[in-house]
Amino acid sequence: MGCVIDLASVSKEYLLGENSFKALDDISFQIEEKQVVVLWGPSGAGKTTLLNIISGLEKPSHGEVRVLGLSLEDSDEDFLALFRCINIGFIFQSYNLVSSLTARENVELMMELAGWHDDGRNARLASELIRSVGLSDRANHLPAQLSWGEQQRVAIARALANDPRIILADEPTGNLDSSTGREIIELLRRSSEEHGKTVVITTHDERIAGLAHVIFHLDKGRLKAVDRPDRIRH
Ligand SMILES: Nc1ncnc2c1ncn2[C@@H]1O[C@H](COP(=O)(O)OP(=O)(O)O)[C@@H](O)[C@H]1O
Ligand SMILES: [Mg+2]
Repeated sequence: MGCVIDLASVSKEYLLGENSFKALDDISFQIEEKQVVVLWGPSGAGKTTLLNIISGLEKPSHGEVRVLGLSLEDSDEDFLALFRCINIGFIFQSYNLVSSLTARENVELMMELAGWHDDGRNARLASELIRSVGLSDRANHLPAQLSWGEQQRVAIARALANDPRIILADEPTGNLDSSTGREIIELLRRSSEEHGKTVVITTHDERIAGLAHVIFHLDKGRLKAVDRPDRIRH
C-alpha cells in the first residue's frame, strides 16, 4: 500500500517577541493509503499545527512534507490551494461553514472549487451527501439555523464533496454530545471502510481512538509513542 503522507524531521517554531517557541519538534512519520490515523495528545501538544502543515495551510520551519508524492515546500500558494481543493477534505474545529449559504450550497461550493462545473450533477451529489449525513430536512437551512452537531455533519459532507483522497479532521467530536459524537464517528468510519479515504483525526476521544490503525501520541510538540492497535485490518 502506498505512502500518502510523509513527514521528515518537521519542526515548527513561532516567534513570540524576542523568544521562539517550538510547537513541533523533529516529527517524522509516514501514513499509508486508506489508514485511519489518530493524532492524540493534550491541548497544546501541536495537533492542529500538524494538521495545518499536512494540508499546506502552514509551512514547517524545518523538515520536509510530502503529500501524495508532492513536496509541499516546492509548491506555490496558488498551486497548493488547488491541490487542497482536489485532494483534501478538511473538517475544521470551528467548522468554517459559509454563513450566507445553505447546508446544501456549502457542500456544492467545494465541488465548484475543485473545478466540477456540471451544476445539475453537483446539486444532485450535494443533496445525496446531505442525506448521507442525515440532514435531508435541513438541506436549505443556513448554518445559523443549525445546531452544532448539524453544522458538524454539514462540515463532514463538505469534506467529502470533492471526493478527496485524504480527510483531515480536527477534534471532530469536541463540541458534541455523545450520541451526535457517535454518528460523526460512524461517518468517519464509513469514509475509510466504504470509500477508501485516508483519514487523519486529532482527538481526545477514546471512541475515535478505537477506529485507528495507528495512533501517534504527541506531547509538547514531540512524537512520544506510536501505537498500532490493529495491524491486521489494513
Ligand atoms: N500562530 C501561533 N503563534 C504562536 N504560538 C502558536 C501559534 N499557533 C499555535 N501556537 C502554539 O503552539 C502550541 C501547539 O498548538 P496547537 O497545534 O494548536 O495544539 P493542539 O491542537 O494540540 O491543542 C500551543 O502552545 C500554541 O499556543
Ligand atoms: Mg487543536
